[in-house]
Amino acid sequence: MLKIDNLQVHYQTEHGLVEAVKSISLEVKAGEFCTFLGPSGCGKTTTLRCIAGLEEPTRGRILIDNEEVFNSGNQTLVPTHKRNLGMVFQSYAIWPHMSVFENVAFPLQNAGKSKAAIQQAVQHALEMVGLGDFSSRSATQLSGGQQQRVALARAIIRNGKVLLLDEPLSNLDAKLREQMRDELRELQLKLQTTTIFVTHDQDEALAMSDRIIVMQKGNIVEQGTPFELYQRPRKLFTANFIGKADVLECCYQERREDFTLVKTKLGVIVASDPHNLGGKTGYVMIRPEAITIHTTPPNSPDSSNQLEARLVKKVFIGEKTEYQFKTPTGHLISAIAPSYIQVPADKSITLHFQPERCVLLEKEPA
Ligand SMILES: Nc1ncnc2c1ncn2[C@@H]1O[C@H](COP(=O)(O)OP(=O)(O)O)[C@@H](O)[C@H]1O
Ligand SMILES: [Mg+2]
Repeated sequence: MLKIDNLQVHYQTEHGLVEAVKSISLEVKAGEFCTFLGPSGCGKTTTLRCIAGLEEPTRGRILIDNEEVFNSGNQTLVPTHKRNLGMVFQSYAIWPHMSVFENVAFPLQNAGKSKAAIQQAVQHALEMVGLGDFSSRSATQLSGGQQQRVALARAIIRNGKVLLLDEPLSNLDAKLREQMRDELRELQLKLQTTTIFVTHDQDEALAMSDRIIVMQKGNIVEQGTPFELYQRPRKLFTANFIGKADVLECCYQERREDFTLVKTKLGVIVASDPHNLGGKTGYVMIRPEAITIHTTPPNSPDSSNQLEARLVKKVFIGEKTEYQFKTPTGHLISAIAPSYIQVPADKSITLHFQPERCVLLEKEPA
């Protein structure tokens, strides 16, 4: 449905050249919910604006539903209104002087549809976003979440080929954001709209996406399903940006059956190598839930991946408790466990790193 080839966006500023997008290539399948995830300034909005036709790229090629909408090679540049897209941007400007109905009807009136057709389409779109009874309200009489839904209704009513959403939930408070997140995903699954969603919030990306594209400094770092990127990232950046993790520098020692042994400053760790990095590994990632806390020493003959440690800090977060432990060599390690487990503060305990969940990451280029 969407194909981007070697997209580049450069800005000439008074401080010199800014490479907002260095080189981005990707494909999005019909019906897919695809998320651009990355820290502020990594080029998410710029990429989205190029897809929307609001920004002219410096170089590259963009195809929507097999139609070339931009090609720097042959000067193709299809204007925004001919790209057939739905959009919601961060400041989702709804028009305060119009009613809910008029706000949502606007794109259709512009397209010259009949009054009856517009009436029916608007009512349908409002029902989709749970605002069926609000059509005659003035837009200013709505809460933040309701305004958000009006913006969404206005975007979906065009029934465009791709829905572009740039941090549409960022103006909402935490509770509403979570509710809208679930509703938006349900709506997308129902409508099967190809969607590109931009966020810097990893929880949002994990909860909503079919696929996440991790971005950093104008480039794609790696991409995969939320599960893949959380459980077995390949890059250090992904391991740190998505979820919590302790990451240790390591060097390859040997392969043993299903596992790979690496040397770290905490000793040898038996780890898994889902990307077959072998000697190309530089780090081992240990997620806090991959650590088992033994309050009495486990009496197994195999003592690999075990470490003595003492509790230094604990944070009760409800069903779970987060712990920080200190090893005899002074290294800090984070673990998380169900709150019913009692961890003594006054004596040393044993931590066990589950080998299948100690994941080897790629060495960074020097
Ligand atoms: N019109 C512009 N002129 C100069 N620099 C820009 C312009 N728009 C964006 N940038 C720069 O490009 C980079 C990427 O911006 P943006 O795509 O908005 O990032 P994100 O949406 O990921 O936060 C940033 O460093 C930003 O300052
Ligand atoms: Mg942005």
